[in-house]
Amino acid sequence: MIHLNLEKLSKKYPGGVQAVRDLDLEIARGEFIVFLGPSGCGKTTTLRMIAGLEQASGGSIVLDGRDITDLAPRDRNVSMIFQSYAVWPHMTVAENISYPLRLRKKRKDEIAAKVEHVAAVCGIGEYLGRYPAQLSGGQRQRVAVARALAVESSLSLMDEPLSNLDAKLRVSVRTFLKEIHRESGATTIFVTHDQSEAMALADRIVVMNGGSVEQVGTTRDIYNRCGSLFVAQFMGTPPANIVDVSLESVGGRILATAPGLAPLDLGPAKASPEMAAFAGRSACLAVRPEIIALGPAGGLNPATISLVEPQGAYTIFVVEVLGGEWKIMVEGDPGIEAGRAVSLSIDASRAMLFDRETGKRL
Ligand SMILES: Nc1ncnc2c1ncn2[C@@H]1O[C@H](COP(=O)(O)OP(=O)(O)OP(=O)(O)O)[C@@H](O)[C@H]1O
Ligand SMILES: [Mg+2]
Repeated sequence: MIHLNLEKLSKKYPGGVQAVRDLDLEIARGEFIVFLGPSGCGKTTTLRMIAGLEQASGGSIVLDGRDITDLAPRDRNVSMIFQSYAVWPHMTVAENISYPLRLRKKRKDEIAAKVEHVAAVCGIGEYLGRYPAQLSGGQRQRVAVARALAVESSLSLMDEPLSNLDAKLRVSVRTFLKEIHRESGATTIFVTHDQSEAMALADRIVVMNGGSVEQVGTTRDIYNRCGSLFVAQFMGTPPANIVDVSLESVGGRILATAPGLAPLDLGPAKASPEMAAFAGRSACLAVRPEIIALGPAGGLNPATISLVEPQGAYTIFVVEVLGGEWKIMVEGDPGIEAGRAVSLSIDASRAMLFDRETGKRL
């Protein structure tokens, strides 16, 4: 069932910045949606329009079948945690959490029960009487999250709620957010530019670029079936390596070739008519670092390892190949040193091909 429907939603700020452009998105009830994209791509602006803090310059926002595009924020039944979250220093934890409920003139006993419950869920139940200055940064963040949860809105918007936390705490709070979502089932839109966070949390990820939606899909879709070159180069740590290739149709199969690259068999031409139509033309091949294996030198593509970045569970090699620099990810520590010549073998079945002009997936 559709809970929130954004149709051709646009925002042009006075001064001419087109922050959001014709954004179409349908969100089902209970979904955990993550907006992901580079700085300035319009994530916060979109959230602020949904919350009613920013007037849309075009398009519509429909929540629960009701057009809320021009409603005041308090009439929307939407709660938002801001990018620069604030807990009030002069209020205790309990007062902070209950503040929006008191504003809404809820009954005292109802408020008390609610505060106790969300504080317990957020793991700050024992700090209700403390002031924010007597808490750690992570605990303060939980107060902000608890305050948003207490409101029990039908739609919860979170703008980089974890960005002020250190790396370790960030991972634990995100696990806890996922648990809360599983319990509450509230439709959630969560903004981040941390892709590991996005992939871990999302039912669906919305990748934004320059005010528009670039691709919407599950983590698996976004990572393995990138809709565009932008997504292939944006997703992944490190992101996909890109090389210009020529496509040929040989014996009913499609081969990708580039000077110095062993021809890659991309599969039967029959199976992918769009690709076959590209035969004789050039395209961009995106190769994820983990679908490349390192072998002894001697292949068609001599590469030199210029840097080794050990990560414990895996190792990243920076190699000079095909006139550029590629990053390759290998499990464990294969004990290969910088300066060594190697050859690369690519798992062609997992490589992705894009139209060089439009950037779209072939
Ligand atoms: N009040 C404003 N007036 C004019 N331009 C604005 C205003 N707020 C944001 N912008 C511009 O709109 C664009 C989108 O901004 P927005 O804050 O939505 O980006 P974002 O995706 O949230 O980025 P970040 O990841 O850095 O938070 C940017 O180019 C920004 O400079
Ligand atoms: Mg922002």
